[in-house]
Amino acid sequence: MSVLKLLNFHHILMLSVFTGAANGYYYYRWSQCIYSSPDLSDMEFIEGSYFNKYPFVKYNSTVGIFVGFTEFGVKNAEMWNKDPSLLQQYRAQVDRYCKHNAELMEADIYNKTVQPKVKLSLVMPGDSKHPALLMCSAYDFYPQPIKVSWLKDGAVVTSEVTSTEELLNGDWYYQIHSELEYTPRSGEKISCMVEHASFTKPMIFDWNPPAPEFEWDIQLLFTIESAALLLGIIIAAAGFIYYKIKSTGL
Ligand SMILES: *[C@@H]1O[C@H](CO)[C@@H](O)[C@H](O)[C@H]1NC(C)=O
Ligand SMILES: *[C@@H]1O[C@H](CO)[C@@H](O)[C@H](O)[C@H]1NC(C)=O
Repeated sequence: MSVLKLLNFHHILMLSVFTGAANGYYYYRWSQCIYSSPDLSDMEFIEGSYFNKYPFVKYNSTVGIFVGFTEFGVKNAEMWNKDPSLLQQYRAQVDRYCKHNAELMEADIYNKTVQPKVKLSLVMPGDSKHPALLMCSAYDFYPQPIKVSWLKDGAVVTSEVTSTEELLNGDWYYQIHSELEYTPRSGEKISCMVEHASFTKPMIFDWNPPAPEFEWDIQLLFTIESAALLLGIIIAAAGFIYYKIKSTGL
């Protein structure tokens, strides 16, 4: 059972009578296009007129005439149902108004694709028992179907891969994460391949290992520090001697 879809349109007229406090009468017409079939074949056009939230007359395209709910509504419905040109105008609304707009809306929603933003990152394990993981994350894509795979030197890797389902962001977009167990080997090229309707071809994102951090050689550091300390002592001593010589007037 598919979800009922609805196009709404409100005409609102507020009649306000100010008597110190704000009071008012509220009249509106509410047009709805209701359907669930993708080919729009079950489209129904409903237009209700409401006074202070109660409907008094409604047109339902399945019935094809106006139906009144109050004395005033029944009188109006009788009158309108005797008007062939008005009825014809309303009967045309299913095609002219509902199907026309639904086609535009469906095209907008269902043909819309949004490219994922792809990010590769390295996840270090908390302990030494587990291997490091490379994570390929695709964010904010639409529609849901997507394929994320790993390539090692251009060949698809299937083992040591775990992947999440496509996760709903809650804003019509999806995200997905795929992890690959990772042991760095020099010269090996690892890439993440993403296939999605928003791309004309599979997109390949290469993993660029971070440059190895410069490791300070403790021994070298100690040597440099000692040399600097010694230099400091020499300069201080020289300064002291110079001061002594000057103050004794030699
Ligand atoms: C319109 O009329 C049909 C036939 O009586 C009914 O099945 C349908 O529920 C009505 N639609 C609305 C929204 O009242
Ligand atoms: C979606 O786009 C395709 C071509 O890209 C087109 O043939 C199809 O009619 C479109 N669908 C809708 C609902 O407009």
